[in-house]
Amino acid sequence: MASGSGDEEGTTDEAAWRLIGPTSVLSKQRCRLMYSSLGYGSDVCLFYVRGEFFAMDARCSHSGGPLCEGDIEEADGVLQVFCPWHDYDFNLRTGKSGTSLQQQVYEVKLEDGNVYVKHASRLSLQPFPADKKS
Ligand code: FES
Repeated sequence: MASGSGDEEGTTDEAAWRLIGPTSVLSKQRCRLMYSSLGYGSDVCLFYVRGEFFAMDARCSHSGGPLCEGDIEEADGVLQVFCPWHDYDFNLRTGKSGTSLQQQVYEVKLEDGNVYVKHASRLSLQPFPADKKS
């Protein structure tokens, strides 16, 4: 296993806790898009539903639909987001879908009034400036 400690370059593929922002602000919106320093395909949705935060890859594992714009429903105590493109369901907690697709989900923690998401790249509520790498 790699033993390097996480740096702030966001180039490591080891997941680390990423500070997203204040709970009081992030809980005002049902979903926020968190931009990944790795680019579009790694962006993450931060949902706030029924008093709880959930983090999930923002692009649907079917064909890349924007899950942040999906409807959220609860069935038998299970919270699901429905992709706005083809209506596939994804369990907000596990990422599992009745279609057998699996959406990647991430751990979320609340600490000192802030929301953190465990992710391999830096995450930001603002788009990252164009990467300097070619
Ligand atoms: S792109 Fe999400 S269900 Fe097809």
